[in-house]
Amino acid sequence: MLIHQNISLKSYNSFQLDVNANYLAEIISPDNLIDAYDTKSFAPLPKLVLGGGSNVLFRGDQRKAVLLMRIDGIDIVKEDSNYAFVKAGAGVIWHQLVLWSLDQGLSGLENMSLIPGTVGAAPMQNIGAYGVEQKELFHELEAFEIASKAFIKFKREDCQFGYRNSVFKGKLKDKYIITSVTYKLSKRPILNTSYGAIKSTLDALGVETLTTKDISDAVIQIRTSKLPDPSVMGNAGSFFKNPVIEEEHYEALKAAYNDIPSYPISKGWIKVPAAWLIEQTGWKGKKSGRIGVHDRQPLVLVNFGDGDGRDIFKLSEMIQSSVQKKFGIGLQREVNVY
Ligand code: EPU
Repeated sequence: MLIHQNISLKSYNSFQLDVNANYLAEIISPDNLIDAYDTKSFAPLPKLVLGGGSNVLFRGDQRKAVLLMRIDGIDIVKEDSNYAFVKAGAGVIWHQLVLWSLDQGLSGLENMSLIPGTVGAAPMQNIGAYGVEQKELFHELEAFEIASKAFIKFKREDCQFGYRNSVFKGKLKDKYIITSVTYKLSKRPILNTSYGAIKSTLDALGVETLTTKDISDAVIQIRTSKLPDPSVMGNAGSFFKNPVIEEEHYEALKAAYNDIPSYPISKGWIKVPAAWLIEQTGWKGKKSGRIGVHDRQPLVLVNFGDGDGRDIFKLSEMIQSSVQKKFGIGLQREVNVY
């Protein structure tokens, strides 16, 4: 296990915040986790598990031991005539898994093309985009149980997946470290074009016989046109979750704001896009020194270069306060703050 001391985390977080960690250990195999929790000098330190660092905000130096998940490998572990079960190491870059599955003619992940981050972080917050969430393809995962130092399997029903949520963000927070995830992918194309922007992009591309690769290409086109590339402009994707409010509250808002978009979730509950709420409060495209709100997707906060995580956090509080005042809605952060 390779251990670095007093190292900058700038290249390990997509906000590109230049903070230091006391220690950083590269975890390249599940056994490295046993070492990390056994080694005398390392074991007592508080730990911070980092995958692609694409969903974290650092407010300062981390007096911790960072475990950088770099477990590699993608394999078909089981298959029948309809499905292949694909197991990927927690450190595999998510988009590499998507491209690999397309190359193998396997369908299911294409709507989630180009989501930043690693495979190990995907179930954690149940990533999703353009009409599909990872829970729909999820088969099982393996995780290191910190208390017992044993490896435990979790089936879909054990993970309590919800919108950008799982048991690993709730009841089991900080108790397990995901080491691999297995997805059940289809040998026949699934072709999910329910999301409006996909349909219009495919029409514009003039696609005739639709393939999974076309869907992936359309998603890549939408994402690159709307979302800033973290390697060019530091960001962590959506900073807030889309809030779900009671229908009564929604009706009252609708009376005042006729164009408020809505997605019914379940009886009596409506999801409202946080991007719209933020735009309405005037924050879209606002800059404050070296940080700001993205001008095409206000759900994304950005570091224009040399920004400070504390300022991004303060900006997020100001946005929350404006949205609360104007709409009576409390926005929740999607990003993990340390
Ligand atoms: N909107 C505005 N102004 C804008 C942009 C959007 O009012 O400037 C409104 C529009 O009504 C639009 C709606 O927001 O129809 C939804 O916008 P969009 O399709 O861009 O999606 P989103 O709800 O803002 C979610 C995810 C994204 C994911 C997209 C596509 C969350 C928190 N975010 O964003 O995920 O890529 O849908 O499926 O659920 C991420 O989690 O990091 C992320 C980028």
